[in-house]
Amino acid sequence: MSKVWDMAGYWFSLHHLLQEISEPDSEPNNMKKIAIFTSGGDSPGMNACVRAAVRAAVYYNIEIYGIRRGYTGMIKGDIVMLDSKAVSNTVQRGGTILKSARSEEFRTPEGRKKAYEQLTALGIEGLIAIGGNGTFTGSDIFYNEYGIPTVGAPGTIDNDLYGTDYTIGFDTAVNTALDAIDKIRDTADSHDRIFFIEVMGRDSGYIAIQSGIGGGAELVMVPETNSSIEEVIETLKGGWNRLKTSSIIVVAEGEDEGGAIAVSNRVKKHVPYADIRVTTLGHIQRGGSPSAYDRILSSRLGVAAVEGLMQGRKNVMAGIINNEVVYTPFKETITLKKPIHPDLIRLVNILSV
Ligand code: F6P
Repeated sequence: MSKVWDMAGYWFSLHHLLQEISEPDSEPNNMKKIAIFTSGGDSPGMNACVRAAVRAAVYYNIEIYGIRRGYTGMIKGDIVMLDSKAVSNTVQRGGTILKSARSEEFRTPEGRKKAYEQLTALGIEGLIAIGGNGTFTGSDIFYNEYGIPTVGAPGTIDNDLYGTDYTIGFDTAVNTALDAIDKIRDTADSHDRIFFIEVMGRDSGYIAIQSGIGGGAELVMVPETNSSIEEVIETLKGGWNRLKTSSIIVVAEGEDEGGAIAVSNRVKKHVPYADIRVTTLGHIQRGGSPSAYDRILSSRLGVAAVEGLMQGRKNVMAGIINNEVVYTPFKETITLKKPIHPDLIRLVNILSV
């Protein structure tokens, strides 16, 4: 529990930092050519963000190029010019029209040199990176080596980035998980079964906690708290004592006790009479048409990324905190941890009584 309360400090320090980090660190510039790419795991809303950035660039008379497959395309020079029409009919589409990849070559100085040469050959003056932690780590290194200003937009279903309340795709992923949990609950109830449902999130429990609360889970296991197998068994026994015949336990893939299969196997040994099943939701959480929330978030951040570059911002991520656009240095987004609000963790316990 103490781990949870330690996290409360985050909200105060974040609030304190807002003023400091929202000021541009140089004069507005007259950028005329920029490029945009999506990188790392795709997320619903990436297209809406690309579309917004392209339309904003056109609006401000800036030429904009699309780099395909993230850093891989940057190294290979797989770069195409975009216009307003190129992004028509994309706001509602899942995935990324620019495609995505995780590039090993960009991790090497030689790879980054090739990327720089490709960009300078086209006269690219600024970059917009849509991705997560790995993407911004690459951007930070690249900026420090070659100085091309980059503004990021947080594109990941994991919602694990410091500097924004929500990341692009998180809301849709939670809704996808919820839809699946509702369906599983129907069959769990019919057969008096216990289901362990594993959701994505890498090292973060955001998808788990929100889909667990929304889906009425009896317990949610996330890496941010100290869950234990004993706690799972106690919760199940408590439910049986209250004549609950079925239960849903949501397990974040990054949970310290292991994923849903590992946890369920250990629990089974202690309650062999329970009828237990496991479902891993997997990549369905990454696809699908973005929710209304994600489309609007993505649109705001796409425009904010272009405007950030125009204002002379560099090496920062555009995010939204308390409904305001905020720019946070990549260094902070990649090193600082965004904890789950303690209230959400409390809610699970209260609501499953
Ligand atoms: O970061 C997004 C994410 O979907 C994580 O939740 C998950 O751990 C990972 O990517 C899966 O990566 P891949 O698609 O490469 O298997």
